[in-house]
Amino acid sequence: MTSGDYVIRAIRADEWEAVKRLRLVALRDPVADIAFLETYDDALKRPDSFYRERAARSAEEPSGARQFIAETADGEWAGTVTVLIEEAGSTDWAGFPVERRQGHVVGVFVRPEHRGSGLVKALFDAGVAWARERGAQRVRLLVHEDNPRAQAAYRKAGFVPSGVTVQLEADAGKREFEFVLEWPA
Ligand SMILES: CC(C)(COP(=O)(O)OP(=O)(O)OC[C@H]1O[C@@H](n2cnc3c(N)ncnc32)[C@H](O)[C@@H]1OP(=O)(O)O)[C@@H](O)C(=O)NCCC(=O)NCCS
Repeated sequence: MTSGDYVIRAIRADEWEAVKRLRLVALRDPVADIAFLETYDDALKRPDSFYRERAARSAEEPSGARQFIAETADGEWAGTVTVLIEEAGSTDWAGFPVERRQGHVVGVFVRPEHRGSGLVKALFDAGVAWARERGAQRVRLLVHEDNPRAQAAYRKAGFVPSGVTVQLEADAGKREFEFVLEWPA
């Protein structure tokens, strides 16, 4: 799939070094502490085997995860989203029951110099299409209450707040909002 100057595609298992590089850039973002659940130092300390396994898991069928990237003509990775499939009947990381098979978008990042280009919507379209092909009945994500740029981007991609909020233990008094994208059955 192409979107303007970018090719939107799933990663390949052998691209773990590029996965790691982009992750480290994301974790240096000024809003990283409210956008991601991991610190730069923690990510840096992880062994290469961690990134190899993560890339393999997010690249291969049949897997419950897929990482999409937007690639420029000269091979730079400009942005990424990862979609995880959550099974009906399971319990999510926050202790809430998962009622329907759904996609969960994590690791949303666009390099600053590529922001405002519509790229994030193209990444979402690819991720949502993949989840739908795997029988997801909706796609959701969580976004920090103090991250209005991400919230605006998600609304432009068709997501709306579901009303579910998650209280953050590590960030006293702060919440994350669940945003969902649903479609007719
Ligand atoms: C979140 C992110 C992927 C969005 O991609 P993007 O290219 O910046 O998104 P867009 O520019 O297409 O859309 C953002 C919208 O928010 C608007 N916006 C910018 N700052 C804003 C603010 N402080 N308050 C409200 N809206 C804001 C932009 O103007 C734009 O709307 P417009 O297209 O109508 O002008 C990117 O900003 C990013 O990587 N941020 C750092 C990591 C992050 O926050 N990830 C999300 C974790 S949940």
